[in-house]
Amino acid sequence: MHATPEELLQFNHRLLESIFTGDWDAYRSLCAEDLTCFEPEALGHLVVGMDFHKFYFDLAGGGGPRNVTMANPKVRILGDEAAVVAYTRLVQKLNADGVPVTVRVEETRVWQYQSGAHGGRWKMVHVHRSTPAS
Ligand code: GLY
Repeated sequence: MHATPEELLQFNHRLLESIFTGDWDAYRSLCAEDLTCFEPEALGHLVVGMDFHKFYFDLAGGGGPRNVTMANPKVRILGDEAAVVAYTRLVQKLNADGVPVTVRVEETRVWQYQSGAHGGRWKMVHVHRSTPAS
């Protein structure tokens, strides 16, 4: 099911918002159950599945105001059923002293259109997040 780059960016932004609002149901609905990831929290291991991510949703609480930006996003459409979205993620938030700070990470997310009993949906199937060297 073809999607436009703008639609894929919307899916991706919705997913990032679900992380910051701690909305596990929204996050889960946007991910494949066998999602794979490389994230700093995985200590260099490729992690498969949703339990690893749910741990952080279960901890989530408050956290104050946040704003997330996908800076300089690039969308590569790989046919009708796959796409890669890469960008620098900027998160604005308040530090422990209440001072606004911006945190930056590099992310690549792979999306796949997956058929299901209730119709198809775009799902994130892989994420790779790196913290910048400088
Ligand atoms: N660990 C959640 C995510 O970045 O997708």
